[in-house]
Amino acid sequence: MTEENVSRLDYVRWWLAVMPARLRAAWYLRGAKKVGAWPGVGGRPCVEATDLEIGDAIKIWSTHRRTLISGWGRIRIGSRVFINSGSMVFSVKEITIGDDVALSSEVYITDTNSHGVEGRDPVVAPVRIGSGSWIGTRAVILPGVTIGRRVLVAAGAVVSKDVPDDSLVAGNPGTVVRTLSYPPGCLRAWHDDTCSCAALLAREAERARHDEPVVASANRT
Ligand SMILES: CC(C)(COP(=O)(O)OP(=O)(O)OC[C@H]1O[C@@H](n2cnc3c(N)ncnc32)[C@H](O)[C@@H]1OP(=O)(O)O)[C@@H](O)C(=O)NCCC(=O)NCCS
Repeated sequence: MTEENVSRLDYVRWWLAVMPARLRAAWYLRGAKKVGAWPGVGGRPCVEATDLEIGDAIKIWSTHRRTLISGWGRIRIGSRVFINSGSMVFSVKEITIGDDVALSSEVYITDTNSHGVEGRDPVVAPVRIGSGSWIGTRAVILPGVTIGRRVLVAAGAVVSKDVPDDSLVAGNPGTVVRTLSYPPGCLRAWHDDTCSCAALLAREAERARHDEPVVASANRT
């Protein structure tokens, strides 16, 4: 489509597509201390955390199950983070989620066991999730766990110990299944058309096409 073809109608269509999520974000994230640019909210999440800061372009879905972000602890969520329906982030101390992190449906992240065992106080310890990590459906991240960068937590994993960068962790208790290797430019564990490595690979392919030696093109025809 050329630039001249972009009409006022296209702008209105875009506005209608984008604005409901923006308006919901303004309402449901109103209690956060800080929310970056271009937040989007689908459905009706329950966001009642009292020390919450969020980066740019966050997306929070709360459709078939309600998403909960709660507690009086310090919750810091980076930019371009996606939180899917039914996920729960509950903090009484500190939960830090880096940039480009995806929480699939019904992920549970907490920095407190809420109750102690054998007469002891409950375990309360900060949780950190490194940038680019993808937390699979119904995974549980327990208090004190640090998950590295570009980690893939498989569906249903119960992560009770730290996980190094670039690894796949699965099972209960979660164990590292293997180390992950990514193409250059890849910032996150899940891959799709919006991935930085996809853009990079496409650019490289395009460059290769244009730099193709003349003799090779001549041979082809
Ligand atoms: C982890 C996952 C993405 C598969 O990644 P993958 O790189 O293709 O991994 P593989 O299939 O090679 O699995 C590697 C090993 O981990 C095991 N594994 C994979 N997922 C597992 C899971 N959820 N629980 C337990 N073990 C699992 C595999 O059985 C395999 O074990 P093996 O080496 O003994 O055969 C996928 O299993 C998964 O959990 N998907 C859920 C994604 C999700 O939540 N999507 C929601 C939309 S955002």
